[in-house]
Amino acid sequence: MNPAQSTSELAAVVNAPAQIRHARLLRWVRDIAALTTPDRIVWCDGSAEECASLCDAMVAAGMLHRLDPLKRPNSFLARSDPSDVARVEDRTFICSEHEEDAGPTNNWVDPAQMRRTLRGLFDGCMRGRTMYVVPFSMGPLGSPIAQIGVEITDSPYVVVNMRMMTRMGARVHDVLGEDGPFVPCVHSVGVPLAPGERDVAWPCNPPNKYIVHFPDSREIWSFGSGYGGNALLGKKCLALRIASVMGRDEGWLAEHMLILGVTSPGGEKRYVAAAFPSACGKTNFAMLIPPAGLEGWRVTTIGDDIAWIKPAADGTFHAINPEAGYFGVAPGTSYDSNPNAMETLRANVIFTNVALTDDNDVWWEGKTKTPPSHLTDWRGNSWEPGCGRPAAHPNSRFTVSATQCPSLDPEWDNPAGVPISALVFGARRSDTVPLVTEARTWEEGVYKAATMGSETTAAAAGKVGEVRRDPFAMLPFCGYHMGDYFRHWLDMGRAVARPPRIFSVNWFRKDAQGRFVWPGFGQNMRVLKWIFERCTGEAEAAETSLGLVPEYAHLDWSGLDFEASRFSDIMGVDAGQWQRELNSHNALFDRLGDKRPDRLLRERDRLAGRISM
Ligand code: OXD
Ligand code: MN
Repeated sequence: MNPAQSTSELAAVVNAPAQIRHARLLRWVRDIAALTTPDRIVWCDGSAEECASLCDAMVAAGMLHRLDPLKRPNSFLARSDPSDVARVEDRTFICSEHEEDAGPTNNWVDPAQMRRTLRGLFDGCMRGRTMYVVPFSMGPLGSPIAQIGVEITDSPYVVVNMRMMTRMGARVHDVLGEDGPFVPCVHSVGVPLAPGERDVAWPCNPPNKYIVHFPDSREIWSFGSGYGGNALLGKKCLALRIASVMGRDEGWLAEHMLILGVTSPGGEKRYVAAAFPSACGKTNFAMLIPPAGLEGWRVTTIGDDIAWIKPAADGTFHAINPEAGYFGVAPGTSYDSNPNAMETLRANVIFTNVALTDDNDVWWEGKTKTPPSHLTDWRGNSWEPGCGRPAAHPNSRFTVSATQCPSLDPEWDNPAGVPISALVFGARRSDTVPLVTEARTWEEGVYKAATMGSETTAAAAGKVGEVRRDPFAMLPFCGYHMGDYFRHWLDMGRAVARPPRIFSVNWFRKDAQGRFVWPGFGQNMRVLKWIFERCTGEAEAAETSLGLVPEYAHLDWSGLDFEASRFSDIMGVDAGQWQRELNSHNALFDRLGDKRPDRLLRERDRLAGRISM
């Protein structure tokens, strides 16, 4: 390889548009092309025409199915390989120079060894394919808090998804200029094609999946999967794993949080950021419509999955959503649970692994109370109610642009972000954790977030339904040692004069008969209203062993018949359950070894003392 090539020579070699004068970018593309040997290189401009022609080509190749243009205009269904349906946490690696920087909750491999492995895997892996160069911005284009990435991929499905999930296209080069920083992201489905060989509908390489992060050099390499967070590298890989390391080094936070605005009937507005593990209804909460009885309240959406939170000059934390679209879990989304999402999904959507109706539209479990009498399931097989198989995969998804969301907050694209009044941490727990509690101090809030546990769902590979500790809902997404991350959070409480209040919530408690106690997602507004009013100083709270809580009379029950006798089912604290819970907190702290912060151990001792009283 010739390091002395001029910028224009380089541009010619890699087929770059004349506009691109960024020598490091051009050299990197040249080197990846030399390694992966694609048949051609295409620089994506992000235009609607480019997207349409990629979709047409994928339809012609059987990789996408076009849905009925009247019922679901400009929308498509993709069916993945059955082995490629979720993030692969056991194949996700943090290759920091030092093992102790990755910590016990991440898979670490020595970076030099991993680079050798990747060289072998990527050698010739794009043969017979097109290599797309996809420039994207996480955060508003040109904003001082945005970060630019460039993804090289051999998957046209990834290109059209990245166009919705990020600010993608030619305009990014104007921001990058001739030497701007970017995070290099290399992705391949890992299936080279021999001359004349026909492609499959969803190429992937099941035995050889690698989702690799080099936090020290801020690089991402992904091999073998075409699905979601494994392949759309701006999302979990850049905006969480790499950005969390940037945040540690630069004094900010990259979090697995939705951001919403709440406006009271009197017109007062507050912003809330909320962390939940995957598939706990984050998109529903971000787009909530207040229920009957709470008319006049309004919830607006800044983001449904990721927040970048930075100290601002006004003494508060400001947050932006680095994404530009939603990659939401379809099952459970309905006009009952999330009317705003259903409206967002009327057109221009890519669905992945949902079921197809006989009239060429989509369906998933929970979309309607009664399923259609016949469907084609996510694997392409005929399906009838009662056949014993789900019609849509439990982790089936929609990809759609944020601008289609009716509840989109007017500030969603503001480069300065929005001021955060409350942080909410929620998880899926059938028992133990009450509907809502407020931390008395920043440290107590960090303790609650650090010790969160949640019953696992299909979004992560592994056994469904087990409680696993998922600190800050970041277990699969923190790019460094979890003990250092806790310490960073504790320190960040002092980074602003007015830190947000911290709350823990649990919508998923079940009664002795195994039924959910809380009457549904829309009713979460009652909790949100109490949180809002705690921030404005209007709502009362009682003190308990777990923190500050509403009594029955402190929540607004207008329009809902929820008896006071049911309240203890959703708020009760059982000392035996909490003893088990504390044992499990101890197991987490033991795992973190010397890096567990003493400040959290002191919080644990205080909690243990209160529980045993
Ligand atoms: C997601 C996830 O896709 O958390 O957002 O798994
Ligand atoms: Mn998520």
